[in-house]
Formats: sequence, C-alpha cells, structure tokens
Amino acid sequence: MHTDTLAIRPLEGCGALVEGIDAARATDAEIDAVRAAVYDRGVAFLHGAVLTPEAQIAFAKRIGPIVVNRYFPKTERYPEIAKVEKAEAQTTNIGGGWHTDHSYDTCPAMGSVLMAVVTPPTGGDTLFANMYAAYDALSDEMKAKIAPLKAHHASAHVFGEASVYAQTDRADLAGHKDTPEAIHPVVITHPGSGKKALYVNPSFTTGIVGMAPDEGRALLMELYAHAMQPRFHTRFSWAPGSIAIWDNRATWHFAMNDYQGHYRLMHRITLDGGPLS
Ligand code: SIN
Repeated sequence: MHTDTLAIRPLEGCGALVEGIDAARATDAEIDAVRAAVYDRGVAFLHGAVLTPEAQIAFAKRIGPIVVNRYFPKTERYPEIAKVEKAEAQTTNIGGGWHTDHSYDTCPAMGSVLMAVVTPPTGGDTLFANMYAAYDALSDEMKAKIAPLKAHHASAHVFGEASVYAQTDRADLAGHKDTPEAIHPVVITHPGSGKKALYVNPSFTTGIVGMAPDEGRALLMELYAHAMQPRFHTRFSWAPGSIAIWDNRATWHFAMNDYQGHYRLMHRITLDGGPLS
C-alpha cells in the first residue's frame, strides 16, 4: 500500500516494512494500514526515534487494547511496558527459541509492540516465521489430517519453578506459580484476515489432544521441521527506536542470543486477544 508518505512493503518470507510513518504522530488512516499489514503479513516493522513510554503506550493502544504481561519485569513507572532486557553478565536471553507468545492462555494475547531502546554493537536480531505461509505450503493430505485436531499448550516447563528459565540466570522472570495451560485448534482462522494459520509452536505446545504422546510428538516435529524452513522467515535487525508489531495468531518469533557480554534493552507492550477458532 502507498499513500503520499506511507509505504508498506511486504518482505520475502514474513512481515512488512512500514516506511514514511512517525509512530508518535500517525493519522488514523496510517494506524489502520499498519494494523491491516500486521493481520495480513503477521508482523510490521518501523524504524524511527525512540518513543517515550507515554508515546509507546499511546501508539500501542491505537493498534489494540493493552494487557499486562505476567512474567517480564515491568518498567519502573509503567506497568503496561515490560522490560525485555539482557545484562552484560547474563548468558540466557528471553525468547531465544521459536515460540508464539501466550499460546498457553485460553485467550492468547493478540500480539506485541516491541521497541528497541539499547541494542548491542552487533547481533540481537529477531527472526519471525509466517504461519499462514507454513500452513498454505502443507500437502493437502497433511491439511486434511490436522484440520480436526487440537493441541495442548503449557507454560510451567518454561516459566514455572523448575523451568528452563528458573534454572538459568533468568530466574528474575516472575510468575513461577502462575503457569496456565490451554487447548487450541492446530489450525486457526485469523479473526482479522480470515486466513488459516498453523497454531502449534516448539516452546509451548506439549501434545496433540487424543493422540499418544509419541505419536503427537512425531506429528509436531514434522510440522515444526516444515515451518522452520527459511523460506517462511524474515530476520529483523534492530536499531534504537525500531518497532516490531507482531501478531501471535500468524507468526512465531525467535530472539537471537549472539551478543554475549553486551547489553540489550527492549520495551514490550502486549496487546490483548480473544478466543481462537
Ligand atoms: C520476545 O520473545 O518477546 C523477545 C523478542 C526480542 O527480544 O527480540
């Protein structure tokens, strides 16, 4: 899409680059175009100056209603903004594996508005995977097989007391006792775009309802290997002020952990979602 100043350029694999917009002063038409790009391409990327917390909150609210994340440390004065932070001495990052945020919730968050505040000298990119494209490229036989299936999603193994994070230098993440589980269809229809998307992910999906664990795991591994093909992916390189607005119903993401010894700080606002079908 092009207007006098706004240009939305679909990227190979996943996402769209939005140019000619000032997130702090966007018109209603520009916000609507950004939201449409997020729904259609799974993630929209913007480059600009670092927004104040008030401006980031105001921008995010225009995309969708905000919900407070239960696990990440909050910024001192703004509970709506979570800090996705890695200190020089920490070795484990947040989100360093393919995942879809909040799939363990009955009504998963719609998405996130993530802004880079401090970036490392090199590295710290985020990969995004297009779950519409991954679904579309499945064989007709696989589409028929997974159409009626539901999957189980959990959070305790990632955020709970004996979890992956709790056993590393990310024990600072909160909510160790607040570890929801949910069941969702393996294939969902995106409420905004009407397109079908694959809705299982390697971090939080723990099995297929009604299948023996081994059989469910084998099916999930086949779907993951398919979706991990680079043809469905985009790699986003951040500078301070860069923003990614992603849709959890249409993407996976993966924060690269390739900047050991350097500081990285992102401000993340989570957008509320609804039930999936
Ligand atoms: C996340 O998974 O929310 C973190 C993404 C990032 O830090 O790039």
